[in-house]
Amino acid sequence: MASQTDVSPITNALAQRFTATRRLSLDLVATLSDADVSAQSMPDASPAKWHLAHTTWFFETFVLRDHMPGYRLFDDRYAYLFNSYYETEGPRHARPQRGLLTRPSLDDIRIWRAHVDIAVQTALPDLPPAALTLVELGIQHEQQHQELLLTDIKHLFAQNPLGPAVWQNEIASEVAQFSAMKWIEGNAGIAAVGHGGDGFAFDCEGPRHDSLLAPHALASRPVSNGEWQQFIADGGYHTPSLWLSDGWAWVQAEGIDAPAYWDGDRHFTLSGWQAIDPAAPVTHISFFEADAFASWAGARLPTEFEWEAAAAGLDPAAGQQLDAAGPVQPAATDDDADLQQMFGSVWEWTGSAYRPYPGFRAAPGAVGEYNGKFMSGQFVLRGGSCATPRGHLRASYRNFFYPHQRWQFTGVRLAKDL
Ligand SMILES: [Fe+2]
Repeated sequence: MASQTDVSPITNALAQRFTATRRLSLDLVATLSDADVSAQSMPDASPAKWHLAHTTWFFETFVLRDHMPGYRLFDDRYAYLFNSYYETEGPRHARPQRGLLTRPSLDDIRIWRAHVDIAVQTALPDLPPAALTLVELGIQHEQQHQELLLTDIKHLFAQNPLGPAVWQNEIASEVAQFSAMKWIEGNAGIAAVGHGGDGFAFDCEGPRHDSLLAPHALASRPVSNGEWQQFIADGGYHTPSLWLSDGWAWVQAEGIDAPAYWDGDRHFTLSGWQAIDPAAPVTHISFFEADAFASWAGARLPTEFEWEAAAAGLDPAAGQQLDAAGPVQPAATDDDADLQQMFGSVWEWTGSAYRPYPGFRAAPGAVGEYNGKFMSGQFVLRGGSCATPRGHLRASYRNFFYPHQRWQFTGVRLAKDL
């Protein structure tokens, strides 16, 4: 084994980020009971305990089992329980039944996490580059699950008539009034898009390639709650001509008449029921709702490459993002940049289908199942949210959800043709 003095600064930095990421996941459940972290509110959402376990399975499987000679699995049965969707890794417990796993307990999972944490830290100095890449992937993966953990626990608590709060703190905006929305002209012509440089990116962000942008403009900020209230008051949810056919069918079938978690002038947050702030970005809207709002506003959704070209010069670590455990909810800011809240606050629906870029190849083996196999029927969202761990985002970052899904912190920025 290498001594500490032999460890490269890069490995040390990785070890520190590993430790900080693992700690934040536990911080996020610090106020929750074993019952809170075991229940599942819908098939799309997972129990918080499952997130804590699955992210641990990822490190134990792809780093320790595959790259640490002699490592013995903590519990042979856990792979069946906590493999999410990796066919290469064999059969697994059905996703809609994750909430039935009252055992192992939260304490059992904490002990497993500690065991794996020590094993990874011990192995790190001697890991080959390919395994260090998997540690990095495991950190990025856990950050994605931290955001899911927050949105899933919010969805769970919203089902409880008592309206429990994960954190009691009030969520305040910096300003009471939203700024007037302006149109910011984007660069037209050929734009290089996708990840091409050094540093981590998910496979679906590349290869870097050229895209042709038509003359267009982007809204200076996301659509606000106040503007959404105008859409509702104007009968937006009852006007079929504004909606895509699939969207109108969804509104009818589900009885949708407002963003998720809204009830009159209040909405449910991680701090329980709160007054809706008209100045804050609207959130928990589906692609269908975003598209209908854009039609009502005489605009359209941006393409993912219009968004990426505009974001290319901006700081992806800026804005309202997750720094520590605590209530998160998109808030208004007094930022006076041309393009405000591009990163953080709310994921912005684009009109772009989640499909591979020219030349995309999924990686061999299990990690090749990470993104590529989901490129069917989903739309791209850009920019991250208030629940995205700071440091996780890039201009090329592509999130993706089905058009009816809205339990994530999803919002919309308008675009228009020029
Ligand atoms: Fe996962």
